[in-house]
Amino acid sequence: AFVVAENCIKCKYTDCVAVCPVDAFFEGPNFLAISPVICIDCGLCEPECPAQAIFQENQVPAGQEAFIGLNAELALLWPNIREVKPAPADADAWNGIADKLPYLET
Ligand code: SF4
Ligand code: F3S
Repeated sequence: AFVVAENCIKCKYTDCVAVCPVDAFFEGPNFLAISPVICIDCGLCEPECPAQAIFQENQVPAGQEAFIGLNAELALLWPNIREVKPAPADADAWNGIADKLPYLET
């Protein structure tokens, strides 16, 4: 499956959901998660993310491996999201900031 990684936190642009053919995205307060059960590995979402936060499971950057499990867990807790919505007002300011995991809200 594809995985949403750290740089989505507080950016949450949601461009990714527009292209997913199987509606595999689930929405939390400041992050999206992909359900590994639903994702069909089409790869369409990866280039759509302005924060470059989406990776194939086996290409998640070193140090961000925890996001593989987090996507699976959070997708079970959160509601499905199928339509793009406006990003947070300060999304661009958070794009590329390191070590955002402590800010993840569940
Ligand atoms: Fe959806 Fe394809 Fe992205 Fe999986 S890889 S989340 S199926 S767009
Ligand atoms: Fe997050 Fe990128 Fe989608 S910032 S909401 S994974 S477009």
